[in-house]
Amino acid sequence: AEMNRELKERLKVLKKERNAIILAHYYQRDEIQEVADFRGDSFLLAQKAAETDAEVIVFCGVHFMGESAKILAPNKKVIIPDERAGCPMADMVNVEGLRKLKEQHPNAKVVTYINSSAEIKAETDICCTSANAVKVIQSLDAEEIIWVPDKNLGHYVQQHTDKKMIIWEGYCNTHDMLTIKDVVEMRAKYPDAEFVVHPECRPEVVEMGDFVGSTTAILEYCKKSDRKQFIVGTEDGTGYQLRVDSPDKTFHFATKFLVCPNMKVNNLKKLVKALETMKPEIYVPPAVADRARLSLERMLQVK
Ligand code: 13P
Ligand code: SF4
Repeated sequence: AEMNRELKERLKVLKKERNAIILAHYYQRDEIQEVADFRGDSFLLAQKAAETDAEVIVFCGVHFMGESAKILAPNKKVIIPDERAGCPMADMVNVEGLRKLKEQHPNAKVVTYINSSAEIKAETDICCTSANAVKVIQSLDAEEIIWVPDKNLGHYVQQHTDKKMIIWEGYCNTHDMLTIKDVVEMRAKYPDAEFVVHPECRPEVVEMGDFVGSTTAILEYCKKSDRKQFIVGTEDGTGYQLRVDSPDKTFHFATKFLVCPNMKVNNLKKLVKALETMKPEIYVPPAVADRARLSLERMLQVK
């Protein structure tokens, strides 16, 4: 506790000196979410990065999020606590494979989940997050959609659109771990609880949800609901904001495996060190960034 207090003091001073803003995803450790200027889901944080006046963005999340921030704010310095915090789902799609699909489906528009590399975004018509995926698809005039990389979210979106979706086979290791059996057991244990679930989970698990939505949608739902107990089908870091919003409610995570190890690579100590040394810094080759930017800006414009 004493060390954390010291770290927080140093962080405050450094933040001012550097004119920095700290953005933290809801899946980050509590000690990071506590000191962030903004906590958010991947959509809100991309928006904040695009809008900020700060000179330095410290992005606490995984690598693709830092990259998206850099692409949207090319004149800012973007640093991250640890460059080893990647997203396995983002790595499940490669440029070659995507180009091949585009050749096979020349009339299709490419919709890419923001959980992807800058190179993939550069091959993309429009990005989306779990919060706006259906809206983004509906905004397109194409009847055929190439969807990368999350098959679970893709399956969920397909249920809400008549467009033909060609779905890549990637998935989130963490959300994909949740099974029907886990949910059945939790429901037996907590019969009064509502089950809220993220669409990165398997289709058969998503189908069991009393509520299905992105991280932010789940937070909003739980805050407003009259129910006092919830079984939560998303990453355990969301517990921080859930408890801030509703200290009188109880949140049971659906399994103890709903922890993204990549998100947890970051900690307060590394965050302070990054701001001290201004490293590691995110670099995206300008030629890639320029093409990727269009796909992100189009997403931000969808109302
Ligand atoms: P959202 O922030 O869009 O809910 O995404 C979940 C996720 O897995 C981020 O890595
Ligand atoms: Fe990637 Fe899943 Fe971790 Fe999000 S929770 S960063 S999608 S592995």
